[in-house]
Amino acid sequence: MNPLALPPALSPDTFLLLRYLLIAALLLYLPFLGIVIAGSAASLVLNFFGRENRDERSLRLSREWIEAVTVHRWVLLLLGLLAYPAIAYACQRFLGGRTSLPAIAWLAPFGALLAGCLLLSLYRSAIRRTTELPPAPFGAGATGLLAMISAAFLTFLLLGTLVHPAKLPLVRSNLVFILSWHSLVEFLLFLALSFGLAGGIALRFLGRSKAGEAGGGPDYEARVRTAGTSFSLAGALAAPALVVLDLITLPATGKSMEVFVMAATVPILALAVFALLYLLPGKGESRPGDRVTSLFVLMFLAVILCHQSAVANAFQGLSAPPGPLAAETVSKGKKAASSPAGGDAAVLEKGKKVFDTVCSVCHRFDAKVVGPPLNEVVPKYKGNVEKLKGFIRNPVKVNPALPAMPKPAIKEDEVDAVARYLLSKVKGG
Ligand code: HEC
Repeated sequence: MNPLALPPALSPDTFLLLRYLLIAALLLYLPFLGIVIAGSAASLVLNFFGRENRDERSLRLSREWIEAVTVHRWVLLLLGLLAYPAIAYACQRFLGGRTSLPAIAWLAPFGALLAGCLLLSLYRSAIRRTTELPPAPFGAGATGLLAMISAAFLTFLLLGTLVHPAKLPLVRSNLVFILSWHSLVEFLLFLALSFGLAGGIALRFLGRSKAGEAGGGPDYEARVRTAGTSFSLAGALAAPALVVLDLITLPATGKSMEVFVMAATVPILALAVFALLYLLPGKGESRPGDRVTSLFVLMFLAVILCHQSAVANAFQGLSAPPGPLAAETVSKGKKAASSPAGGDAAVLEKGKKVFDTVCSVCHRFDAKVVGPPLNEVVPKYKGNVEKLKGFIRNPVKVNPALPAMPKPAIKEDEVDAVARYLLSKVKGG
């Protein structure tokens, strides 16, 4: 089967519904994953220094933090793992469209997630039993955290390919193309929001000292407040800058007014976090945790919506070739059909079909997409169909400034048809 074939058409309504479901699933999943990552990082650091300095309060905060972010071993496994396959499937099936990556690509982060969840729950049960950890569970916790971070990073790389669909065939043939500045920025943005959110959670849930417990008391509560506030402030400070970078690195095909408006809400929400924590400090007992947490969840929502509409924009450009080209080919097709050489017209028609489904992902006639503009490179094959067919069959490296063209998965008669079609289309062909 042609890997670039179109998936069965979905009605626009179903497609829209699926997109909203996907947004909802991501909104549940990403913040949870983020809280687990940021909370376990905090817990591990506190645990390390708490043991070094024999500081009772650090150790206690470390335990409270890991207990709060993982909720319960089963919740961790259910929420952290089960949502992932559904999301991965939906992304590649409905958003990846005709150029989706193989399912195995989405399984790699899943393995890392599984390892991460298991190791973190090991760390969690060890720390619940005693704050004086033997070194082994600490190592398990640190490895688990690393696994979760790599799973998140891989997921963002995969999600990032969706805003640049023209690159997907290149990724299939050469994994290096999966790296992009855009994915990296989105991953950092995710971390910033996660730390902010974990700060909100700390302000809300931690430091409820029960009388008589070791290391409790007002001192301890002040300590928790400082930790939560610094996490939230760091998140709120980094997020707006990263959103700007996110927009800068977004490919032009993904940009639209909608995307900008959604992105603009992030700095506004971040300002609200500052206002809550600095300008309206809670008097006495009141805790800003609830509101800070909701503000960060809203930022997550804005960023996810922003990403989703960028993906939709990027694919819109693909499903229909730009207007002038489509109009031109239609008139050309008609002219050819009325000419006496009926066989030729059928071949050109077929060539156009191959071009639209396979080559147009990377090529336009008048503009550079991933490959060079065909009006510039095809004329040198003028009068030499065989040479052009040879290149299409087995692409070789031509222009050092461009990536190599992957070998297209098309049959011999399709190679012939598309070569003739290209030569008939460009001037002087
Ligand atoms: C995954 C993206 C991609 C797809 C799909 C693709 N190409 Fe290319 N194509 C490229 C790139 C990148 C280059 C530049 C290669 C180089 O200069 O080394 C290129 C170069 C070319 C060239 C110029 C060769 C030269 O001598 O300069 C032709 C002609 C061409 N492609 C035709 C096709 C045809 C026909 C198809 C469909 C069957 C196709 N391409 C599909 C990416 C693609």
